Amino acid sequence: MQKIVIANLKMNLSKKEIISYLDKINKLKEDNFIVCVPSIFLHLNNEYKNAKIGSQNFYYDDKGSYTGEISPLYLKEEGIKYSLVGHYERREYFNENFNVINKKVISGLKNNIKLIVCIDSLSKTFIKYEIHSIFKNVKKEDLKNVLIAYEPSYMIGSGKKVNYEQVNNNVNYIKSIFKKDYNIDVKVLYGGSVDENNIEKIYNKTNIDGVLVGKSALDYEKIMKIIKMSN
Ligand code: PGA
Repeated sequence: MQKIVIANLKMNLSKKEIISYLDKINKLKEDNFIVCVPSIFLHLNNEYKNAKIGSQNFYYDDKGSYTGEISPLYLKEEGIKYSLVGHYERREYFNENFNVINKKVISGLKNNIKLIVCIDSLSKTFIKYEIHSIFKNVKKEDLKNVLIAYEPSYMIGSGKKVNYEQVNNNVNYIKSIFKKDYNIDVKVLYGGSVDENNIEKIYNKTNIDGVLVGKSALDYEKIMKIIKMSN
């Protein structure tokens, strides 16, 4: 089955590089590939109609005195349909806690944005607590617009060898929680040092529905190899 590939460009490429990247992607018409760009480039969504462009973040209120923040309404106005929420780097460097992530999830879903929600705990007990905290008071019918990205924080940008067994166990555990507690078959992606060399093994050895790629997504040739392996 075709897998989903999400590229998280973070704050890495220049304007020139992002435009050249989108120029190429726009010609491909890949429907299983979403590229999350820095917010200042989200308006390019109006030019690159064949590329699926997503946001890396947004604020949970629609409007107000929040200097520097991005309203979910701005995403809607630019036709942005996807956003990451609760990425480890948002938690680590911008103090996003479960309460903030939960508010963002509720706000994003209310605004019809499809969310890629990151889960980063390692143990089953913490994974369960994380899911219940992040999805508190989320309407069951809205969960169809949620994809989970399982990203153990120690793997992000580390280049370490992926622990396939741990990933598979935790991905299956996440799926089972959503089935049991919310009665939904959620799709779970894996992220953390995915590259063009380990992608085949990751797909063969785990029950994931796709990948969230940071570093390797910055190189067009590498992400193309990953997309090819995902089709
Ligand atoms: P990485 O990043 O692929 O560089 O490990 C993944 C992520 O941060 O989503």
